[in-house]
Amino acid sequence: MTDAIPTAADLTLGEKASLTSGADFWTTKSVERAGVPSIMMTDGPHGLRKQTEAADHLGLAGSTPATCFPPAAGLGSSFDPELVERVGEAIAVEAAIENVAVVLGPGINIKRSPLCGRNFEYFSEDPFVSGVLGAAMVRGLQSRGVGASLKHFAANNQEHDRMRVSADVDPRPLREIYLRGFERVVEDAQPWTVMCSYNRINGVFASEDPWLLTSVLRDEWGFDGLVVSDWGAVNDRVAGLPAGLDLEMPASGGLTDAQLVAAVREGRLDEAALDTAADRVLDLVRKARRRPVVEGPLGVDAHHALAREAAGRSIVLLKNDGAVLPLARDARIAVIGEFARTPRYQGAGSSLINPTRLDTALDELRALSRGEVSFAPGFTLDAGTAEDTDAATALRDEAVAAASAADVAVVFLGLPTADESEGFDRESIDLPGDQLALLDAVLAANARTVVVLSNGGVVALPFADRVPAIVEAWLLGQAGGGATADVLYGVVNPSAKLTETIPLRLEDNPSYGNFPGEFGHVRYGEGLLVGYRWYDAKDLEVAFPFGHGLSYTTFAYGEASAAVTVDGDIEVAVAVTNTGPVAGREVVQVYTSLPVSSVQRPPRELKAFASVALEPGETREVVVTVRRKDLAYWDIRTGGWVVERGAYAIEVAASSRDVRATTTVDIEGDPIRMPLTLDSSVGEVLAHPVVGPFVRQAMESMVGGGQLDEGLVKMMESFPLGRLARFPGVGVTSEMVEGLIAMGNAS
Ligand code: BGC
Repeated sequence: MTDAIPTAADLTLGEKASLTSGADFWTTKSVERAGVPSIMMTDGPHGLRKQTEAADHLGLAGSTPATCFPPAAGLGSSFDPELVERVGEAIAVEAAIENVAVVLGPGINIKRSPLCGRNFEYFSEDPFVSGVLGAAMVRGLQSRGVGASLKHFAANNQEHDRMRVSADVDPRPLREIYLRGFERVVEDAQPWTVMCSYNRINGVFASEDPWLLTSVLRDEWGFDGLVVSDWGAVNDRVAGLPAGLDLEMPASGGLTDAQLVAAVREGRLDEAALDTAADRVLDLVRKARRRPVVEGPLGVDAHHALAREAAGRSIVLLKNDGAVLPLARDARIAVIGEFARTPRYQGAGSSLINPTRLDTALDELRALSRGEVSFAPGFTLDAGTAEDTDAATALRDEAVAAASAADVAVVFLGLPTADESEGFDRESIDLPGDQLALLDAVLAANARTVVVLSNGGVVALPFADRVPAIVEAWLLGQAGGGATADVLYGVVNPSAKLTETIPLRLEDNPSYGNFPGEFGHVRYGEGLLVGYRWYDAKDLEVAFPFGHGLSYTTFAYGEASAAVTVDGDIEVAVAVTNTGPVAGREVVQVYTSLPVSSVQRPPRELKAFASVALEPGETREVVVTVRRKDLAYWDIRTGGWVVERGAYAIEVAASSRDVRATTTVDIEGDPIRMPLTLDSSVGEVLAHPVVGPFVRQAMESMVGGGQLDEGLVKMMESFPLGRLARFPGVGVTSEMVEGLIAMGNAS
């Protein structure tokens, strides 16, 4: 049956043009004459949003019930590709039951600013985490014959003006931070589709950028799938198609199809480009038809259980002074905060899932407790920051009374739904004032207070020093309530770690002052120093660092060893012991740096991680591989990746600021030899392996064979060779310079 799908050569010009844009909001067009069926693509990324009646891309109209798994902000904190893959597989099963061919996810954009309204949908501020987890999600989805759509390609790191703004990014950060995760996912997991983003990159719309969609994505990375536009991202389809945009979504009412046909007829567009795009659509249809049939109904219970497991693995224990947590089952608890009863479990916009079920933390805490569990809402979700009204005072008083009568107060704070959405960014990272006032009042009444946070993007924690225990519960999907109860009572020992730094103040964030830009441009002025790379480079204090997360047990690390493998990768080994009283899981992180480098480098960059589950007293050797290619920097001179020679520092760490063992490893560099020219500097010539020693000798003999004055050499280093010959008194002729250049380039 699959063979029945034709190729572009079997279709008319009109059919090819029509095939490369949507039929409606979610489906491609069929070509009945040629036996091409229509296929459905729909959101994504943390569950299925299949709309059955009205359609939109902003999460407005309803959709078929589906399991709402934890959004990426939560799931990413698990640092566990195996878990992410299982979630991907479960989403694919739901998609297959609903006859959906492609799920629009994962989203792996970098969390450049905590203000980005869509950070809840993204994994990390770090490209390695985003790439590894993104690839896992793609593998999971595609293992069931459902295509993934890797999005939003690329540099879509804000919602403000997202359909026009130009992300103005230098080549190194673009490659090393913003594209690196995409590169990894494409190379490791071959997503069926890549979704190009709305924005421009350095002035060019992603949807019509031949460099992005063809040179980088296909020629360099070997992508062989289909590029689909984000919904409404097409600016000029006649320009976009030859650049590498294969499918416009959603439907354009035939308008842009007609433009393509006219462009081919008038010789402005090569029909071969249209054939290529149509063939990619046909190929996608072929792949979709190979999907094994999955009969419904959906196993709601099993998927809810997976959602609970995933949510439990997503919760980060930020602080736990005096072992306030886990709670004793017979403790008297005051549960405070509307979020305990009305959970915030996902963000708004195109990823909005209609859950099959919804746990609340309050019910689930009561289900696990053998003691008294009182509840006071403490605030309303619509009151905003009106902390001085009578109603707010009454709610606060009720909460204080509950806290006073309890052994422990568990206060659920978080961001209102309206704060976090696709389509716009947040304006601050502060929690609402009424919630902060409530917390102060509760703390005064009961020092044994635990804060549980519900938020997709990080929030400022001005109370961090005063509250003994803080649980970052992100947005956890439909089973988050149960998972939160599991962690609070120690049924699940928390093991998640932050994939994003929690700063002390928004002003400390690297993008501050360059976000969200103005007049259609946003300058990525912080360059490479994104997230922890910045906070570490500037030695700034943070509230909680990247990679941080506590457990109810403790882990000891042994000495680290590192060795270069035959493939040139680095194998890092360390023994980790569970030194505490309960079983637990530790995420071991490996950061690298090159202290002596010819290019700017962040103080440390995550290059490998692994999680290990350990019984009390158990020791295991954790072995991880740092891939040689991940050590490379983007060389703007050669336009390629270069692994520099040198002694790389390897840090084995429990967080970016909790390094437990260090070692170094010598790495051979990539052979890179820049041709010498008249523009080469004296320093470059001296560093040249052949000409360098020769020149040094010549310089020494010029000063009578004695020691060179190194201060003078340093001063001369920046002098371009060509200008030496013109300089009076230096004694260097044009012929000498030409000779040197020829000698260097011939060697
Ligand atoms: C979003 C995409 C989404 C698409 C379809 C767009 O607004 O940016 O992430 O997949 O809509 O809903």
